[in-house]
Amino acid sequence: MQRYKDPEARDKMNPFAEQEAWEEHQIGKSKLQFGSKDRKRSSDDYQYVFEDGIDFVKSSVIEGTQHEEDSDQEDIDEKDMLKRELQDERKTLPIYKFRDELLKAVEEYQVIVIVGETGSGKTTQIPQYLHEAGYTAKGKVACTQPRRVAAMSVAARVSQEMGVKLGHEVGYSIRFEDCTSEKTLIKYMTDGMLLREFLGEPDLASYSVVMVDEAHERTLSTDILFGLVKDISRFRPDLKLLISSATLDAEKFSDYFDSAPIFKIPGRRYPVEVHYTKAPEADYIDAAIVTVLQIHVTQPPGDILVFLTGQEEIETIDEILKHRTRGLGTKIAELLICPIYANLPTELQAKIFEPTPEGARKVVLATNIAETSLTIDGIKYVVDPGFCKIKSYNPRTGMESLLINPISKASANQRAGRSGRTGPGKCFRLYTSYNYMHDLEDNTVPEIQRTNLANVVLTLKSLGIHDLVNFDFMDPPPSEALLKALEQLFALSALNSRGELTKTGRRMAEFPLDPMLSKMIVASEKYKCSDEVISIASMLSVGNSIFYRPKDKQVYNSWKETDYSTQWCYENYIQVRSMKRARDIRDQLEGLLERVEIEISSNASDLDAIKKAITSGKNGSYRTVKNPQTVTELKPDWLVEIAPHYYQLKDVDDTGTKKLPKGQGRAAL
Ligand code: CDP
Ligand code: MG
Repeated sequence: MQRYKDPEARDKMNPFAEQEAWEEHQIGKSKLQFGSKDRKRSSDDYQYVFEDGIDFVKSSVIEGTQHEEDSDQEDIDEKDMLKRELQDERKTLPIYKFRDELLKAVEEYQVIVIVGETGSGKTTQIPQYLHEAGYTAKGKVACTQPRRVAAMSVAARVSQEMGVKLGHEVGYSIRFEDCTSEKTLIKYMTDGMLLREFLGEPDLASYSVVMVDEAHERTLSTDILFGLVKDISRFRPDLKLLISSATLDAEKFSDYFDSAPIFKIPGRRYPVEVHYTKAPEADYIDAAIVTVLQIHVTQPPGDILVFLTGQEEIETIDEILKHRTRGLGTKIAELLICPIYANLPTELQAKIFEPTPEGARKVVLATNIAETSLTIDGIKYVVDPGFCKIKSYNPRTGMESLLINPISKASANQRAGRSGRTGPGKCFRLYTSYNYMHDLEDNTVPEIQRTNLANVVLTLKSLGIHDLVNFDFMDPPPSEALLKALEQLFALSALNSRGELTKTGRRMAEFPLDPMLSKMIVASEKYKCSDEVISIASMLSVGNSIFYRPKDKQVYNSWKETDYSTQWCYENYIQVRSMKRARDIRDQLEGLLERVEIEISSNASDLDAIKKAITSGKNGSYRTVKNPQTVTELKPDWLVEIAPHYYQLKDVDDTGTKKLPKGQGRAAL
């Protein structure tokens, strides 16, 4: 057992030391109302709401009513204990009371907007209700999720509840991983995967219901799906559409879907005390660690959920917490640390759902995934540093980056709500109440307004949608970003000068990759190095868990910037599981090469050939050779050789910069 010999170090470790730093702030009473007023409910239901709550407008609302328990309706498999237990559990979920009402509404209306508190059972139960009601006899039920982990985890849960093997009747499909079969009736998938399915099946004929879940997240793919499903619903009156959301912006969805009715599921809400720090925290990682320990030592039983921005932060805190609790030895109760983020191996993900043993406390270190996509039972305390990683895009430079940004008020309130699901909770915000009031935006900007649209434009074009300006976007992207996307696709030869899809573009669209990577693969045919190039593409697809800073000097300097942190080094080692994932991806890319009829050919000795293929995948966004963002050295005259339609010798100076002719790309609109 490790003890702190130095008393000062021990004091630093004393979780009580900073206890007074909290300022308590009780949040106001509900302005929000759910469902029928005359239905009986506990007074707790309304307690947890926010001063800045949105007033609910009651146009075209289907009121939920009490569901009479009817044991005949559930065909319980008596043999299977777990299944039976789970079946009982299903009946305790808030949504259960509205089962029949909901099914009636689905029968009556083609499109329904469903709103319900996170954890009420929308994602796991609705597809099962639809299955039980016979919808799967007519076609699959799709349920989209913005996050891979959520798709996998809910599919696993639902397969357990139904007592079937994952991948059989219940499956999931995420990029580079298809866990479905001929038997699959309920299919959880990322919104991006459903978008890709339109390529092979433009009317989604094999589906009877599409549930666009977590609609409030407004991911790019979800926003595009809205337009596509709205379109096909017109000529497929048999296709049911459910748009479900955890927040109360349902009206906007209803308006978009031609005044679709809104079905509200009242959640269980308990009061949540919100605590703010008195002064801004210089280091939220450190503040989060101290807060977790403080809660652990001073607060009654109940698990803790900490919101972090990504894997690296989670791993850092995981390690430090382990170290510190070891330091405190038996003075404190056991603290189980459970990380959850997108790339966490599936086996480890299950750990967060395991019940906490008596006498211990669980701390879940999560990304935004735990904000609304996943519900972890037993959480009583939320630690909210107030940040998340969000994609931002500069259409002028064409560069996209993931930046750590303050969250919105809506997010902060969702996060706080995670603590009050099974009983009264507490939320510790690692920022001041002033910050909350004055610095946070009300809502997160939809992704479509802050992202590179090249991929979407390519997908839409390959779906035969040419008129992008008149595409029915819920919130249209900035026209500058659309133009930039068209220009990029033209530079990559995916579109011709009239903005039409080329053969190259059609081939590129087959790959579930960024257009630059797809182009690099398609171009590798010419340079006979597809073998090497798909390896490169698959390595790049697993992201920075393999490559961090490729140049020695940069690695060294970044290390220096962190004051030669050991933790930083640890994070930058190559990870076996990332390599395995790269191998999986590579296998799939190999399969796709066959589909677009590109032979596998190796040309490892000709580095220039490989570089040229890579260069083909570059466009305006990597226009300067000297720019540190350029991943490989290239020769300016190659640009003329590779993309004569885009670069001419006179255009290319010694930095490889190209001046775009006026009005370029406009024709495509
Ligand atoms: O979608 P919504 O937030 O309304 O709820 P859900 O995801 O369907 O979750 C309903 C319940 O299922 C939660 O309260 C969890 O207790 C449970 N669940 C679980 O135990 N394991 C999962 N992987 C997913 C849900
Ligand atoms: Mg859900």
